[in-house]
Amino acid sequence: MKKDFKKNILCIGAGYVGGPTMAVIAHKCPQYKVTLVDVNHERIREWNSDRLPIYEPGLDDVVMAARGKNLFFSTDIENSIREADIIFVSVNTPTKTFGVGAGMAADLQYWEKTARQILECSESPKIIVEKSTLPVRTALAMERILNSDHDSLRFDVLSNPEFLAEGTAVNDLLHPDRVLVGSRLTDSGIAARQQIVDIYANWVPREKILASDVWSSELSKLVANVFLSQRISTINAISAICEKTEADVTRVARAVGMDHRIGAKYLNASIGFGGSCFKKDILNLVYICKNYGLNEVADYLHSVVKMNDYQKERFVENMLQAMFNTLAGKRICIFGFAFKADTGDTRESPAIYIAKRLLEEQADLVVSDPKALRNAKEDLSDEGGHVEFIEDPYQAVSGCHAIAVLTEWDLYKSLDYQKIFQKMIKPAFIFDGRNIIDHQRCFDIGFNIYPIGKPPLTHLG
Ligand SMILES: NC(=O)c1ccc[n+]([C@@H]2O[C@H](COP(=O)([O-])OP(=O)(O)OC[C@H]3O[C@@H](n4cnc5c(N)ncnc54)[C@H](O)[C@@H]3O)[C@@H](O)[C@H]2O)c1
Repeated sequence: MKKDFKKNILCIGAGYVGGPTMAVIAHKCPQYKVTLVDVNHERIREWNSDRLPIYEPGLDDVVMAARGKNLFFSTDIENSIREADIIFVSVNTPTKTFGVGAGMAADLQYWEKTARQILECSESPKIIVEKSTLPVRTALAMERILNSDHDSLRFDVLSNPEFLAEGTAVNDLLHPDRVLVGSRLTDSGIAARQQIVDIYANWVPREKILASDVWSSELSKLVANVFLSQRISTINAISAICEKTEADVTRVARAVGMDHRIGAKYLNASIGFGGSCFKKDILNLVYICKNYGLNEVADYLHSVVKMNDYQKERFVENMLQAMFNTLAGKRICIFGFAFKADTGDTRESPAIYIAKRLLEEQADLVVSDPKALRNAKEDLSDEGGHVEFIEDPYQAVSGCHAIAVLTEWDLYKSLDYQKIFQKMIKPAFIFDGRNIIDHQRCFDIGFNIYPIGKPPLTHLG
């Protein structure tokens, strides 16, 4: 098999990043054999089935076009390592939950286990690419582990962070703003870097492929997430001011975003950011800053996460206040549980926090979502009998006192809210945590509307 392909590329970790990234590489580079392996056998079985383990627009087509030709999913990690020339490592790097740095630092155990397994199984030199998001200077630790044995084998450790966003992953991979490849600035490092650049050059314009040193590359990924999440927390902070002053956050964002120095993107006020990355990457950077004694920098960055937590709690408190200071026994329908639209991923979704807080207030919940109900059930599995899961939004709202829109799925913009109103208990409330529905129209139908960062529209006098 090996001789039919120019190179064997392996990716360890077939998750939200590894899966789509390797599918696109395979699709664009038929000359390479691309294999994905994972310790999670169920995940690999699903990658080999008709129902892929993750939902991303366009992903099915890319996978089906290459699978079985030059794209393979396997649980045979050891042999796959042996055969590989280039190994991308895309295992999870969650926040540490124990010991030193608990709640802040990145948990690098999966990364390190992978490095040791690569060392154990390798019989030839390899290029190891950090695809996971890692603390700056992790490559140094990896080099030390990988080059601790085998005098004759050489491993070059590179950084190639992934900037895709879930929900638009395939498009982001096909048309990236940039691809970043960091290496040691030695002859061997630069030669290894060129091999990774050559892969992307099959479809990414050369001027968008940035070559870098390894530390800047590792740090750039964390910094990109700081900038993105900081914009969200800033506009959310402004939404709180708007609610007190009868200003409209959408108008403010528009006026501000038309300044080309600021730009219009990432200025939608909401219940806050979620997803597996923003919070963990910022906390990781906060932890690194503290370790270097950069306490003021750490505090500044930490405030982005604190503002996000505040925004979620503020949303719940607004609901409580609007609904006459009691939610006990009231039926609340949650529209959207995914952390953003066009994904089934619920990791760190604001909906988890909000749902749990509403249950604490003894509300009964009906959770609706077009793609995330499987994950939502798991997230709320400890919450007992006060939660129902109903995909059809018209069924889900039946007998509810309120709707909380928590994910910006297009579906919720075009529902028949007249029909929905008829099925609900009056006075009926909508708390639009994403500012996506037509507020005036729903108000005219009879709803009491509570957007984010705008004056509420109510019939309550
Ligand atoms: N999800 C995103 O949007 C995104 C974007 C950019 C970067 N990242 C980064 O990419 C990395 C992966 O994220 P993800 O969302 O794909 O995570 P994920 O949890 O979906 O996937 C990681 C996979 O690695 C597997 N794994 C763990 N240890 C392993 C081992 N020793 N051998 C083989 N497989 C192993 C897990 O079983 C899992 O399937 C993280 O560092 C993350 O911060 C994620």
